[in-house]
Amino acid sequence: MTPNHSLTLLTRDGEAAGQSRMRIVVAVDFGTTFTSVAYANTLESYLPKLLTHWGDGGIMTGEKIPTVIRYDNDGTTGAYTWGYRAQQDSALHGKHIHEWFKLGLCNDFEARRARESELMRKYKSQTALPAVKGDECMDLVVNYLSSIKGAVDQFFRSQYGEDAAQCPRDYIITVPALWDHAEQEKTRLCAERAGMGEGSQLQLVPEPEAACIYAIQQMLWINEGDTFVICDAGGGTVDLASYTIESLNRDQILHCKLAGAATGSGGLCGSSFLNRIFQSYLEKKLEDYSGWEPDFMTEALRAFEDHIKPEFTGDRQDEKFIRIHGLKESKRHGVAKHILILKTEELRKHVFDEVISKVEGLVRDQINNTRRPVKAVLLAGGFGNNPYLKRRLEQNDAVVRNKIRVQLIENGDTAIARGALVAGLVGLGKNRQADDDDGAFNVISTRTVEVVSRLAGKYYGTSALHDFEEGVDPESRRRKRDDGDKIERITWFAKKGETIPDGEPLSFNFCKVARVQRGVPAHEACAPVIRIYTCERDIPGTCKDDASVREIAQFRMDLKGLFIPTIIKGGQEFYEARFDIEMTLRAASLSFCGVYGKGTPEAKRFPATNVVFT
Ligand SMILES: Nc1ncnc2c1ncn2[C@@H]1O[C@H](COP(=O)(O)OP(=O)(O)OP(=O)(O)O)[C@@H](O)[C@H]1O
Ligand SMILES: [Mg+2]
Repeated sequence: MTPNHSLTLLTRDGEAAGQSRMRIVVAVDFGTTFTSVAYANTLESYLPKLLTHWGDGGIMTGEKIPTVIRYDNDGTTGAYTWGYRAQQDSALHGKHIHEWFKLGLCNDFEARRARESELMRKYKSQTALPAVKGDECMDLVVNYLSSIKGAVDQFFRSQYGEDAAQCPRDYIITVPALWDHAEQEKTRLCAERAGMGEGSQLQLVPEPEAACIYAIQQMLWINEGDTFVICDAGGGTVDLASYTIESLNRDQILHCKLAGAATGSGGLCGSSFLNRIFQSYLEKKLEDYSGWEPDFMTEALRAFEDHIKPEFTGDRQDEKFIRIHGLKESKRHGVAKHILILKTEELRKHVFDEVISKVEGLVRDQINNTRRPVKAVLLAGGFGNNPYLKRRLEQNDAVVRNKIRVQLIENGDTAIARGALVAGLVGLGKNRQADDDDGAFNVISTRTVEVVSRLAGKYYGTSALHDFEEGVDPESRRRKRDDGDKIERITWFAKKGETIPDGEPLSFNFCKVARVQRGVPAHEACAPVIRIYTCERDIPGTCKDDASVREIAQFRMDLKGLFIPTIIKGGQEFYEARFDIEMTLRAASLSFCGVYGKGTPEAKRFPATNVVFT
């Protein structure tokens, strides 16, 4: 490819990109079935583009590439192909490929979220290799994301020359909002291992949030105060969120602030389940049809994916035909010579309705849980394009009663990568405002749509020892200690449903008491390990052992350099380190920091170390 100068990679001063401090920002929507990539440079951020060349992922061009990988050894190690090429290898040589491996990042999702993952248990993929979990799954994700990064690097080198190849890049990666922090952080870890940056260089953005940001940019009919439900219906997951337009300014360039209007929700009921159910239905339907051959299923599934599913409206009493050469006629099975006939009604009843009803239920619940009247349900994701899904949602009782409009987001299936790019640019712009303007970032040119607050989907708290109250606290939980009898209890510092401003810390007091020991410095004696717990119940548990309470993170604090006072209790000397801990939620990233002497001129901040999300 010869360098293409239609997208200038020159800075405001006419320097070439390689010598300037301009950056290229890349947003990756790493989907269960497809991945898409949007990019922009920080000086022309209003001109985001989509990657359509996929390097060694295959010669096909398109705005999305299949999220599949296949290893030469049919396992999970060694040489591999990915994307279109892996798909082609599989089709040509009948090899099974790893698909859906993104979902393997969720450890016990199926067990934990029984209601949301019922379809996953019922309908296993018959074309994919067995699902991989844990470290093996992370290796697959790392290899896949490294290949995506390789394609990005190759594209910039071949399109814009060596200068662009030298230009620093910031990556943004999207994560399902319904995932836990540990699962989201695993995605970050994989992206880090794939060379997409580290720490704050790599931003995580929740998928429905990205879709909403993009949608708002396109909608001219919105007003301050309007509330929307976003339904991102993809291949694996359906992710929902609600936002209210808190402020809107269109003077020169759009500036819009969105506030979370409900906690998010979702489930594993994406479009791929339709394929699995279709296959299982055909197997049942043709159980005693003698002329069926394994190859026919491949053709039937292809026809379903390419034509029947995407165009399905479900509203006509007509028939669908799948041409399969070699089929013998059997009226009883609805098979004509070379043609498999499927009635719309039969497809609706036996294939579509199980999945569509789940999505409908999720949308209804999300509308009912949204605090303000909902103006529109915005559909994103590949499955969001489905005409039958739209029609069913339009007929939904909650939608009809509240006169809610159901609308497709323009470019719905790439809206997430595009919106994530905008979110990432805004995030980067904010970070840079604190620094000197070094010409690296043109914040002014960015149409900013940003989420400024979210509603907590759960309680967040930490466990600490409190003085045991005789006759009040249960005897079974009494803990005898040198500094008196104690009881361990959780203090919830963020409540479910409470507004959490983006990037603003939530703070809680922490006190670590440790016996003074000769030869052990105070900061070592006190070195606290802090554990963060969550609870999704409306009335939360009080103790870390309650079944509804989960530990989500633990970290340490290095108190070196702090003056830690001592106290005397029961004739013994103890260190008593009192400080505040701040938890900050920025998009999908949680971070922790300790503050000693908060609010005083001597305040000292120390970031959490050894953070582990569990
Ligand atoms: N018109 C349509 N009707 C139904 N399904 C569709 C339609 N168009 C595309 N799809 C399906 O949408 C899926 C791809 O959508 P998308 O790229 O949004 O998913 P993803 O991002 O890979 O998955 P997820 O968001 O769950 O991680 C595929 O399963 C595809 O078959
Ligand atoms: Mg998606």
